[in-house]
This record gives sequence, C-alpha cells and structure tokens, in this order.
Amino acid sequence: MLRERIGEIRELTDLPGVQARFAMKACPATKVLREMAGAGIWIDAVSGNEVLRALHAGHAAGMEPPVICFTADVFRDNALEVVLEYGVLPNIGSPGMIDELARAGYRGKVSLRINPGFGHGHVNSCDTGGPSSKHGIWHADAGEAAERAAAAGMTVVMLHAHIGSGPQFEELLENLGRLAELFAGMVPLFPGLEAVSLGGGIPHNYRDAGAKVPLGRLKELFGKAQARLSEAAGRAVRVEIEPGRYYVAPTCTLVTRVTDVKRTQTNEKGAGAVFAMVDAGFVDLVRPAMYGSWHGISVVGRESGGETEAVVVAGPLCESGDVFTRDDAELIQPRELPKLAAGDLLAIRDAGAYGYAMSSNYNSIGKAPQLWLEPDGSVTQISRRETLEDILKAETEERV
Ligand code: LLP
Repeated sequence: MLRERIGEIRELTDLPGVQARFAMKACPATKVLREMAGAGIWIDAVSGNEVLRALHAGHAAGMEPPVICFTADVFRDNALEVVLEYGVLPNIGSPGMIDELARAGYRGKVSLRINPGFGHGHVNSCDTGGPSSKHGIWHADAGEAAERAAAAGMTVVMLHAHIGSGPQFEELLENLGRLAELFAGMVPLFPGLEAVSLGGGIPHNYRDAGAKVPLGRLKELFGKAQARLSEAAGRAVRVEIEPGRYYVAPTCTLVTRVTDVKRTQTNEKGAGAVFAMVDAGFVDLVRPAMYGSWHGISVVGRESGGETEAVVVAGPLCESGDVFTRDDAELIQPRELPKLAAGDLLAIRDAGAYGYAMSSNYNSIGKAPQLWLEPDGSVTQISRRETLEDILKAETEERV
C-alpha cells in the first residue's frame, strides 16, 4: 500500500520542474524513509534529529540538489549544528531566525516559510495559515525578510507555505491556486529564487477507504503553477509539494486486544454505555484523543455479519479521554461493532500518519513494536517494543 501511494505521488509530480518531498514527521521509520529514497522522493524534516534520521536512511546531504529541506519554526537542540554540518536547506519560519543563522556563521541559501493569511486544516489546530497560525513569516513582511537575508549575506532560493493538513479537497485546490498567485506576485522581490513549495495537506478519507482523491486535478494545478511562476521569474522555477499523511495514512493498522466488556447504567448524569476495554491507548495513537479524529475499527475475523452493539472502545491509560470512539465535541461516541468479548482483536485502521510518530511514553508503557508486511506475506519487526530499561536509560543523578 505504501508503494502504491508513493507511485500515485510520483505520477502526480511527473511534470517538468515539479518535485515531491515526504513530510517525514508523519512517519519517520527508517524503513519508510528508505522506500522514499529509492523512489526519488525528497524530504521535509522539521528538527535536527529528523534531518539526521533522513541522512541515516540514505537521503543525500547538501543543496545540489536540496534533497533535505529543514523546515523550522524554532531552532533548538542540534538544529543549527546540523544545518552547518550537512548543508541542508533551512526553511525558516520567523524573521529573527536569519540573525540566528548569521550568528552561527551561516552564509548560504535559505528558504522562507510564508504565512499567506489563509488556509484550513481538518480541525482548527491543524490550520497552518491565517492570523491565528504561529507558522511562517506573515506575507506582507516577506520583503523585509528578503532585505534582512541579503544584508546577512544569504540568498533566498525558495518560498514555502503549508496551508493546512487534511482539509476538504475542493478547498485545498482553491487555496493552492491562490497561493501560487500570491507567490507569483512576490517573485520580483527574490532575484535568487529557484523554487516554490506549496506544502503538503493532500487529504486522506478516513471514513471511506475506497474513496479516491482526484489527483489529476492537482496535477493540472501544479503544471499551471510551475508555468505561471516561471513566467513571473523569467526563468524556470521548480514547484515542490511535501505531503506527509497521503503517503502513509492507510498503510498502518493498530492491532489491539479486547481485555473486557463492561457497562455503565443511565442515571441523572447521562446515558449508560457499553465499554470495550482494549490494551492500546492514546500513547499508541493520539489522533482521536487530540483532535476527535475518526478511525475505522474492525474486529479481526468478524468483518461481516453477526450481531452488533454500540460500544465505546477505551484504553488502559489513567485518563478519561483515553477513548478511540469519540469526536471533537463528545467524549464518547459509541460505535456499532460486532458484539465484543474479551480476547477479540480489533484493527484500528489508517494509523500510518501521525500514529507511531506521535506516540508517547505517558504512563511509562513504552512504545508498541512496528511490523512491516510485504506482499509475499513475510513480516519483519522494524522496531521492537520499548522496555522499562529504554525508558529509564535517560535518567541520571548527575549534578549540573
Ligand atoms: N509540510 C509542513 C511544513 C507541515 O507543517 C506539514 C504538517 C506537512 C508538510 C504535512 O502535512 P500533511 O500532508 O501530512 O497534511 N498531527 C496532525 C497533522 C499535523 C500536521 C502538521 N504539519 C494529524 O494527525 O492530523
């Protein structure tokens, strides 16, 4: 499935002067990054360590071409060191970062992440453009940032924006067109411009596995944007995109076991419910708890037929919000599933994007293992279960 999705994005970007990246934050496993490298997909990394993981998986350092772009809202930890040592293209999200780069001794090419003033995600907290978004340099301040970069001996070679993660397709299409126009108008400010990135945000339909995103319409838009931007610049300008979710969302299933089924009774506080307790929680997949996101759930071996029941699927964490069947308004939203009993295995689908990547060590449980299934049926463990030893490893009693 991953290879299929990679193939779709390759087809989508099979146009002169159009390049795809993978926003690796969605799923940074080495195995996945290697598949991307093998397919000629470049990388969008968002931390020094993500850059190092991409290099470890075989992606090239340097700027010729800039295979790894490092999009940073804030430089922290090893970020500046990594930029200086590996010559990856810094894509900066606020004007003061030009001075930080200069103080660190950097004098090379930079990319500016712009907040275009519009955009939309699947929930407000996934909006990445507009006055309430912390991302990027406000579009009207781009000229000033260009002057600041030039004064510091840096050349702006790319303009970048990401206008939201997982919006409705029509809205994405409209906003991308608007973005390309905005950038075309800015081109004269940037004589060294080589590329424009229109970001990621291609949606995945979590509710309907068979639904197809009309990628052909996006391809048409990218072709036109490339021509329009090149015309505005008077030379060829590369158009880039950097989806994360679209490559990986459907490629992973979180498998969990029902440990018990119990009930609450209706009283003056509300309606009673049936709870299927499972051994996975928001430490494994946080999207339902964090955004109220909907993930398909099926019962292994009972995909069709049989008696059903509306059930709340809840995990082991000491938090009432550790529930997989909820939305952004309701804490519990019972789901009609085959009648469950202890021992049943549930498959929580579409967990590939921002699933393992956002998993945590809350409650000291340790991260789940990741398994890789090949079409021939062979299975490889690509990361093992985290142990208490792993968790304790970073603790010290060092005086500082
Ligand atoms: N490029 C940049 C600069 C981004 O900030 C993002 C996502 C992407 C690309 C990839 O966006 P995608 O194609 O995956 O929508 N944790 C949330 C999504 C947060 C995305 C943040 N930035 C979720 O689980 O829905």
